[in-house]
Amino acid sequence: MKKQDNKEYMQWWRDARFGMFIHWGLYAIPGRGEWVMNVEGIPPEKYRKLAWEFNPRYCDMRQWAKLARDAGMKYMVFTSKHHDGFSMWNTAATDFNSFKTAAKRDFVAEYVEACRDEGLKAGIYFSLVDWNHPDGDMKGLDDLEARKRYVEFATEQVRELCTNYGKIDIMWYDGCFFKKRNQYYWRDSGLNEMVRELQPGIIINNRSDTPEDFGTPEQHIKPDPEGKDWEACMTLNGSWGYYRGAEDWKSVREVVQMVGTCARSGGNLLLNVGPDADGLIPAESERILREAGRWFRRNAEAVYGTRVGNIGFGGYYGPKTVNGNNLYVWTKYWPGSEFVMSKLHCKVKRASLLSGNIPVDFEQQDHRLFLKNLPENPPDSPFTVFKLEIGGDPYHISGPGLEPYSDWNDFGG
Ligand code: GLC
Repeated sequence: MKKQDNKEYMQWWRDARFGMFIHWGLYAIPGRGEWVMNVEGIPPEKYRKLAWEFNPRYCDMRQWAKLARDAGMKYMVFTSKHHDGFSMWNTAATDFNSFKTAAKRDFVAEYVEACRDEGLKAGIYFSLVDWNHPDGDMKGLDDLEARKRYVEFATEQVRELCTNYGKIDIMWYDGCFFKKRNQYYWRDSGLNEMVRELQPGIIINNRSDTPEDFGTPEQHIKPDPEGKDWEACMTLNGSWGYYRGAEDWKSVREVVQMVGTCARSGGNLLLNVGPDADGLIPAESERILREAGRWFRRNAEAVYGTRVGNIGFGGYYGPKTVNGNNLYVWTKYWPGSEFVMSKLHCKVKRASLLSGNIPVDFEQQDHRLFLKNLPENPPDSPFTVFKLEIGGDPYHISGPGLEPYSDWNDFGG
């Protein structure tokens, strides 16, 4: 894997590893996902009526931010506007927004404040498709004037988001589909130049028709082949926006494994929650995140601030991460009293169980490492992490050019 380039403003993001994605808007009322308007063919006039029903009683973004923090997440990304076009802030560009309808609330303001109060970085998701703007669904549009009108409208909205809420840390665009038919691309419109001028140091994703700072594999985990920064975004239950029947919950073990798999390959995980129409994050999401968070707290140094190292596939038991001169071996299949790994081409100074910092007896024979006299039952769950302190750069690899990685749900070794 290639070395990352030296963008200093990316450092906090590269260290963070784990963030919360929040999909929340009018679509939470029907409760059948954020594409409901499109999927069910709801006419815009009818869909717009939802804005006069949307008045979430229990929405307290502080609670969301606290949950993210307890889950071990370092940043959040919130849907300021999804494809349905409903703006979750007091925008001057359209009345179809949460401030000028039933809720009378500026949710972006509440969100940014909650992030700041809880010490989290604030990211804003913004859809470049707008099903409620007459020129906003760019499918099949060959009318250059219409394109310009719409790009100007969206640019104005992005300007507001980058001007009215203090520091914004991430701009997370979505919906730059249909680009082949567009004659007036986002990249020609000066949109991101404006964003960077208004928000120095902001980190921008790759979904506005230019690569910008990071790639966004969706619902799968795959490192960028050219070694660029990347962040995998994943649902926790199969749906982004609140969907009453979506119960494909990922387990705590899967959440931990996903973060580990991202970390070992130099990426982040942006894990989604979809609050309901009252503004409550589903109880099962909360349970899973809290439990995962306790594990991340116990094993923090194996996660945050890790970097891509000279590590390769070594077993079926889990990912390995590198932090400083330490190699962290995560194992979900506890072997009992002895753990053996091979192809470790460096000298171990000390071995321990990370959680609790309990020293472990070990022996090295050539490239083989034997961790001995271990407890019969796994000391930590869902993964136990061994910390191996190395004299220099950890080097665990079986040969040059090895790229064992294929997808998040493979062994992730
Ligand atoms: C897709 C979907 C969208 C979701 C997003 C998350 O582009 O259109 O509903 O917000 O991916 O990555």
